[in-house]
Amino acid sequence: MTEPPVVTSLFEAHLTVTDLDRSIAFWRDVVGLPVALEVPERGAAFLWIGGPGEAMLGLWSAGSAPLGSAPMGASLHIALGVSLGDVLRACDALRSAAVAPLSFFGTEATEPSVIGWMPAAAVYFRDPDGHLIEYLAMLDEPPRPESGIVSWSEWPATKPAAKPVRVERYQGARDDLRALFAEAESSERELESYLDAGDVLVARVADRIAGHLQLVEAAAADASEIKNMAVDATHRGRGIGRTLIAAAVDVARDRGHASLVVSTAAADVGALRFYQRSGFRMRAIERDAFTPAAGYAEGERSDGIELRDRVWLDRLTSSDTRTSRACAPPPHAPR
Ligand SMILES: CC(C)(COP(=O)(O)OP(=O)(O)OC[C@H]1O[C@@H](n2cnc3c(N)ncnc32)[C@H](O)[C@@H]1OP(=O)(O)O)[C@@H](O)C(=O)NCCC(=O)NCCS
Repeated sequence: MTEPPVVTSLFEAHLTVTDLDRSIAFWRDVVGLPVALEVPERGAAFLWIGGPGEAMLGLWSAGSAPLGSAPMGASLHIALGVSLGDVLRACDALRSAAVAPLSFFGTEATEPSVIGWMPAAAVYFRDPDGHLIEYLAMLDEPPRPESGIVSWSEWPATKPAAKPVRVERYQGARDDLRALFAEAESSERELESYLDAGDVLVARVADRIAGHLQLVEAAAADASEIKNMAVDATHRGRGIGRTLIAAAVDVARDRGHASLVVSTAAADVGALRFYQRSGFRMRAIERDAFTPAAGYAEGERSDGIELRDRVWLDRLTSSDTRTSRACAPPPHAPR
């Protein structure tokens, strides 16, 4: 079974009230909570607890509570604070526990919903009593109420024009990038073995590091290897990954290397698409590379596929990205 998300806090609780205005006044003026959002047409209001994004109280006039399939008063709704990575993995984790992941709208979901005004990513499910439970992570970006409630994959397209991205060689402590490295490496043991290796390029957006790419010497003499790369979850889908690959191709070429190689899990369908869209072609399969002995959890899954085999891909560093005979002997034969 896929590991469940690590719950770090109770993010949100909801109360059913008979007179919404009276209750808003009570929680605002008597208890001192700032109103985050009022939605009169849905008979709802939300108040922050401990400042914006810390925790939230939802007030619902009787009969208007979200996804209310159980009789009012019988179905409660709570939100559990988890990391963004765990929200993104929550659909898989719930499904592997035979629990249906739900969208904000109560339909069966394969990805989180994004609530634009907060903004937060969330996956919903019901406990055995029909109570509505939510895994939630606040997103580290400005609220966009105008985006409404959308799916995680739709969210990037609702963003205003992307800020310019600057790629540069990283000079700081590798430990400061550990969380980003861990986005692409679930084995702590493996990560420890290579965290300090090679060179790291970082993509900065308004001076903030939004992604990284680690470049090491490949097993073959005339190739560089992308050992680890990730883009911060809130910056994905805007071409930053592709920009980092283009910079890595330039660095590898400057080193006199004819090709750039990379490996990823055969189960990681998204990464396989990303690398092929970035000019790589498949070269070799290394079976049973992701084992518990190497620090990968038993039964770990990606895209619903068990994490077992590794795929090696490569591309030329010349402007002709078609892998030709020049790239012939596999840079990495399967072990
Ligand atoms: C893989 C990753 C680095 C891509 O970064 P990104 O900035 O989102 O990628 P880009 O926006 O440059 O995308 C380039 C193309 O790849 C596609 N793509 C990127 N990630 C994808 C995913 N997970 N699933 C499907 N397609 C994906 C994009 O849709 C885009 O395709 P298009 O040309 O049709 O528009 C990023 O998703 C990530 O950090 N993932 C978690 C860590 C990871 O998987 N690392 C690499 C594998 S070890």
